[in-house]
Amino acid sequence: MEGRLINPSSGLPDAKLSPVADSSVLQIWGGHPLHGHVRISGAKNSALVIMAGTLLCSGDCHIRNVPLLVDVDRMGQVLSALGVSVQRNGDILDINASNITSSKAPYELVTQLRASFFAIGPILARLGVAQMPLPGGCAIGARPVDLHVRGLQAMGAEVQIEHGICNAYVPGKNRRLKGAKIYLDIPSVGATETLMMAATLAEGETIIENAAREPEVVDLANFCIAMGAKIQGAGTSTITIDGVPKLHSIDYTIIPDRIEAGTFLVAGAITRSDILLSPVVPEHLVPVIAKLREIGVPIVEEAPDSLRLLPAERLVAADIETMPHPGFPTDMQAPFMALLAIAEGDSLINETVFENRLRHASELNRLGADIRVKGNTAFVRGVPLLSGAPVIGTDLRAAAALVVAGLAANGKTTIQGLRYLDRGYDRLDLKLLELGAKIQRLPAAGADPEVAPTTINPEASISS
Ligand code: EPZ
Repeated sequence: MEGRLINPSSGLPDAKLSPVADSSVLQIWGGHPLHGHVRISGAKNSALVIMAGTLLCSGDCHIRNVPLLVDVDRMGQVLSALGVSVQRNGDILDINASNITSSKAPYELVTQLRASFFAIGPILARLGVAQMPLPGGCAIGARPVDLHVRGLQAMGAEVQIEHGICNAYVPGKNRRLKGAKIYLDIPSVGATETLMMAATLAEGETIIENAAREPEVVDLANFCIAMGAKIQGAGTSTITIDGVPKLHSIDYTIIPDRIEAGTFLVAGAITRSDILLSPVVPEHLVPVIAKLREIGVPIVEEAPDSLRLLPAERLVAADIETMPHPGFPTDMQAPFMALLAIAEGDSLINETVFENRLRHASELNRLGADIRVKGNTAFVRGVPLLSGAPVIGTDLRAAAALVVAGLAANGKTTIQGLRYLDRGYDRLDLKLLELGAKIQRLPAAGADPEVAPTTINPEASISS
């Protein structure tokens, strides 16, 4: 990505503004309530797929409210490798894909960023040919892409997978995908997005049944519609797309990140805080708000785009079953497990979306939680207080759960695995510091998890 983050005042690349997937650690001294207002950034899972969606457009895409994330940087590198112009200035991305010079995405980038696989839809739609490395699995599951592939085949693409590469091309003289009726066995977010993007430039009508209904799918659809695509039904289980020959330039603003907002709500709940969050879209957070209220956390919708969280008198146990939207989001499961670890009573957490997304339970137990895992179910017995310890984040939301737990734990918690955190949260530690958390980011070598640092003042701001 050209021009790493530019400091608006100096106009120069600013290292402090550029996220780094570094090996530093977070140290948190728990037990301090938070206070004040936290600004929620643009949605990661909108930004990444909308960046892929710019490949559909042969003009300028001006995208606002883009979060500062390692994964956004990585997606920018994938686009640049395809010949796309990508310029970033603060939270604005200027992207121009009028001249795609390659249909082959770089192997080492795609295997690091699953979302980049979704670009196979737009590349096929624009060029009629694509070589896309398989994203491979990750800590939370095998993450297959069979639904993406089968849908593209239904639209007329020939697809061979060999040597870890998905080779796809559209036969016929005009090499244009054809509209098709597609049923998704699982309401997969990524498959819905890949196929919806591919269908915007296909010949004829495409109907996607059992489509994902997540707000980020709707955001992508609105982005494509603003470029001239004909899409109906986004946000429902049946999406209909009528292909058009071309899509035009656009100026688009990404929705706020409901998972970042949910994470701050849980951080406020576990520390018995009074905090204000904005901008948010409350209807994107219905299951999260309902579950927090069930646990005993007062939440007030102070304005159409803001939420106020107030201190709970008691936190009581509640059961959670993750489901596709509008069910309880799987991305909120780990932070809620941290909260339920200190609720009164026993909670049952059933993870139905991913096959290996309970690994944070063992790290929470290192902090004094009482959690037993059997298959995809966690049995959480609430304890009065967690106690700080050195822990390791195994994936993005697991790392967030450990930060949340550290904010409430007695004493110091040292968290490794920030390369995951920086992929998906926009300056989480800085935002928590501004809310009054006793938190600092240290180079791994500087943090001795056994001995509280004598030279470092917990009040000091984070050196980002
Ligand atoms: C998106 O991943 C999100 N990522 C995930 O967020 C989120 O957890 C997930 O949707 C569910 O909401 C982005 O948007 C970049 P899926 P995606 O396809 O699209 C199976 C985070 O923490 N499946 O809806 O990969 C799959 O294995 C990340 O921000 C197939 O079997 O999720 C899973 O069990 C994590 N075949 C289930 O469907 C396929 O072809 C749901 O996955 C595709 C998926």
